[in-house]
Amino acid sequence: MRVDHGAAPVRAHERATTGTARVAGSATAVAHPNIALIKYWGKRDERLVLPRTDSLSMTLDIFPTITQVRLGAETGQDTVTLDGAAVTGEALRRVVAFLDLVREQAASLRRAVVDTENTVPTGAGLASSASGFAALAVAAATAYGLDLDARALSRLARRGSGSAARSLFGGFALWHAGPADAPAPAADLASYAEPVPVAELDPALVVAVVDAGPKPVSSRAAMRRTVDTSPLYEPWARSSADDLAAMRTALRRGDLDAVGETAERNALGMHATMLAARPAVRYLAPASLTVLDAVLRLRQDGIPAYATMDAGPNVKVLCRRTDAGRVAAAVRDAAPDTAVHIAGPGPGARLLDGDAR
Ligand code: PMV
Repeated sequence: MRVDHGAAPVRAHERATTGTARVAGSATAVAHPNIALIKYWGKRDERLVLPRTDSLSMTLDIFPTITQVRLGAETGQDTVTLDGAAVTGEALRRVVAFLDLVREQAASLRRAVVDTENTVPTGAGLASSASGFAALAVAAATAYGLDLDARALSRLARRGSGSAARSLFGGFALWHAGPADAPAPAADLASYAEPVPVAELDPALVVAVVDAGPKPVSSRAAMRRTVDTSPLYEPWARSSADDLAAMRTALRRGDLDAVGETAERNALGMHATMLAARPAVRYLAPASLTVLDAVLRLRQDGIPAYATMDAGPNVKVLCRRTDAGRVAAAVRDAAPDTAVHIAGPGPGARLLDGDAR
């Protein structure tokens, strides 16, 4: 497999000198979602979005988010649209809080107009916040003229949504939790994602969209409840460190079965922590379990296929790229109402040339 780590963001100041998208004041960026094979579940600092555990993901080559940021006057409000409709309420508050961080770093008071096009269903556990805040970090940093390298952009994206830290990078990315006891500024600096070297591996993720509707409980609230109340949380967090070590070895060796087995147990363990929370958080739906059964049958038939699920009912099936068509067909047969997409490893977040969308 060729994993494209190269599309990671260019330094903002380089872009600020030439081309339409490079003029500070306006920039357009694209980012893709990532799916964690070792999950991020639980924060140790909500304000800085510092996770309890390291996580590792694959960035996808489908469902890009494209975001344009244009700076306006120093007075007034930020304006945010998603697919042409005005964003309001909590979603707007999160974007404004993120822009406030960028303004603080850039020592600017200018308000922004943010226009986003999402090709992934928003808030359905399909990592729309990851691609969304990664694209926003790159576009906003450039528009405000910040000089940030890829690691600094990853830290910035993390503040919008933890998993966005990983979408800065193509292929496989590891997000470091950083030392648990470090004081705030050092802890902030130590928590960023970076690309992970991978041996010969030709993976696909078959994305089974069981339900594209918004999730009933936000991942933020569900994580908090799990950490605060689930007796299974600490054991999972400890075992996740072992899973990460196993995952890194499996990726280095290009061992798809070990990658898949480790990812599946890590995800099922994460869902177990939520089911044991008080009250329980249950994202998986009957159709999710139908897809999990189909994955088991594929394995019994000798096809390496392994499932992972996030904060929603949708199931992503890791398999060889050469088996992806067969895996997709098996999922469709088992759950005919499920929309199925095939993804490969995708590129990191980057600026788009020109401001045309
Ligand atoms: O970045 P958030 O706050 O949307 O949290 C994402 C959490 C999971 O998708 C469930 C796991 C992960 O590592 O992406």
